[in-house]
Amino acid sequence: MKKAIIFLGPPGAGKGTQATMVSQSIGVPYISTGDILRSAVKEGSSLGKKANEYMSKGELVPDEVVIGIIDERLNRGDCKNGCILDGFPRTIVQAVSLENMLKEKGLEPVVLFIDVPDEEVVRRNSKRRICDRCGRIYHLETNPPPKDGKCECGGFLYQRNDDREDVIRERLRVYREKTSPLIDYYTKKNSLFKVNGSGSVEEVHSRVISALKKIDKA
Ligand code: AP5
Repeated sequence: MKKAIIFLGPPGAGKGTQATMVSQSIGVPYISTGDILRSAVKEGSSLGKKANEYMSKGELVPDEVVIGIIDERLNRGDCKNGCILDGFPRTIVQAVSLENMLKEKGLEPVVLFIDVPDEEVVRRNSKRRICDRCGRIYHLETNPPPKDGKCECGGFLYQRNDDREDVIRERLRVYREKTSPLIDYYTKKNSLFKVNGSGSVEEVHSRVISALKKIDKA
């Protein structure tokens, strides 16, 4: 059965970094609810204005809003051979809705759970910079941008407004309360594969590739 590969883990675990690498190598769409919501905020749409009330404080956007976004995105027709989901689901309600959506499309959910300690979460998020043109993710120390402070594509780099230390700690608290129950939920369904997210991007990537091989055989 074709798969929807879900990247689960605390904020700043490296989900976006790893998920985009996997999407490019296996050629299935990368879908990030965080990116979709941030685009809406940038456009200033009514969705963006509503989402920003929650995102700027590190809270979750209401379930019905993100479920609607994912439903619309999965219906676009490019996910027939699978897809990669980053940042969705984040609650049990979202996970149950996703299962129904995927069933209709003949896709099976499998979860790559990337775990890193809290202090690493703060360190990674607070020094993250993102390209406003191509979306490439940098880290000022571990994955620095070119010397002129711009992206390789020439785009400008920005810092997310939820990457302040107080907001990062709130995102972590929300993750523990609302998202971490998904670890148990998917473990009981035998759909969860754990990856140690500590170490360099390349080290984590080779663990992700090994987990994907196990998933292929399962
Ligand atoms: P979202 O954008 O999904 O944020 P997140 O889950 O908090 O995750 P991040 O994007 O912060 O981190 P990441 O794990 O992708 O790490 P990255 O690869 O960038 O959500 C943002 C907000 O939107 C939420 O708070 C919520 O309000 C809302 N939202 C989104 N989805 C929702 C949903 N389903 N329901 C309700 N609300 C929703 O890496 C981080 C940094 O570390 C980078 O600088 C990177 O270069 C660096 N790095 C990565 N890997 C390594 C490594 N191995 N070693 C050293 N540095 C590394």
